[in-house]
Amino acid sequence: MSAPPGGRLRREDALERDRTDPLASFRDRFELPEGLIYLDGNSLGPPSVGMRARIESLLADEWGRDLVASWNRHGWFRLPERLGARIAPLLGAGEDEVIAADSVSLNLFKLLAALLRRPGSRGVVLAEATNFPTDLYMAEGLVGLLRESGAELRIVPPGDFEAALGPEVAVATLTQVDFRTGRKHDLRRLTAAARGAEIPIVWDLSHSAGAFPLHLNDDGVEFAVGCGYKYLNGGPGAPGFLYVARHLQQSLDSPLSGWMGHRSPFEFETRYRPADGMRRFLSGTPGILSMVALEEGLRTFEGVDLAALQAKSEALGDLLLGLAGERLGEFGVEAASPRDARERGSQVSLRHPDGYPVMQALIARGVVGDFREPDLLRFGFAPLYVRYADVWDAVESLREVLVREEHREPRFRDRNPVT
Ligand SMILES: Cc1ncc(COP(=O)(O)O)c(C=O)c1O
Repeated sequence: MSAPPGGRLRREDALERDRTDPLASFRDRFELPEGLIYLDGNSLGPPSVGMRARIESLLADEWGRDLVASWNRHGWFRLPERLGARIAPLLGAGEDEVIAADSVSLNLFKLLAALLRRPGSRGVVLAEATNFPTDLYMAEGLVGLLRESGAELRIVPPGDFEAALGPEVAVATLTQVDFRTGRKHDLRRLTAAARGAEIPIVWDLSHSAGAFPLHLNDDGVEFAVGCGYKYLNGGPGAPGFLYVARHLQQSLDSPLSGWMGHRSPFEFETRYRPADGMRRFLSGTPGILSMVALEEGLRTFEGVDLAALQAKSEALGDLLLGLAGERLGEFGVEAASPRDARERGSQVSLRHPDGYPVMQALIARGVVGDFREPDLLRFGFAPLYVRYADVWDAVESLREVLVREEHREPRFRDRNPVT
């Protein structure tokens, strides 16, 4: 949104933008507390309005009444693929290229290990320091297991990734959107660079899926993982997902070769034989309560125009950055996210030396973002329910916090375990 010529950004302009927003009606699909401005859907999406009834019917009509027969009668056994097929259009992938399972951490481990163990594989796992820490930790654990065969983790600073795509690298992994700054990697360009060096790259799309459209097939992406509880609205601890390009699925063996990934689990054979396709990436029994919640969360995307999702995500971020520049600069607040929307995910981070207490004071005013070390105030924009006026009001509340120095109250300095 641009300011009127010569003028400041006005609240009425934001309200007008909401009135003409093609996604405005999707907000009705969510149960959001009255009066709360929720800018933390990049951490945990809210429940959909259908969630309560769906969980109740799962308890009453499936688990409660049909008990174990539900695995067949209610299709529980096929939920991982069913969810994959729902996630696939958001990724620009085929329905048989995605499956829901486990956590992002475990899914990344499975893909990295499968790629590192391929015959003749080189030894280095390449990662960038801006990757989400769990990705780095899982890679560290993996190379620890394989150290004797020469495996090694190499973590390079941002900007050095392409230069590090050398002949010793077996597999690389990148988080597309930097969880701190919101900076977005160019998926297509970096995938091509890695493939040019014959290096498979596993993308972490946790802050991408559901925030803006992806085109994994068209961009030549071969491997990816992502999160179910952020923009996909699957609820706390929702299963993650894996994507493997169709032509590569049969060539990979999961190291966590549990019975749910077996070709025929109910034959109870003594030896493991992987299932065809994406099911081979399952390990143990899926958490059906979480899977059902994720399925319900994904329904919020039914009928969504993904181009409109992208446009709104960019416009909300631009609005926050524009307003922050106008109204918060005098309080020492600086932008930590790229100004060019094409270089950002659906998130804007602002820096303030007292970031933690400032965010706590803002939350006390009913505007929910989060804090990331060392000084980042983070705001996520889920385009299906965040309104332009929310962004305007959030900046106004933040200004009030700073004008009145509310963050100096001692209660806002107590650190919670989750920030
Ligand atoms: C980019 C990214 N990857 C992974 C995770 C967490 O993964 P897991 O589902 O294993 O907790 C997060 C959590 O915020 C994340 O932002």
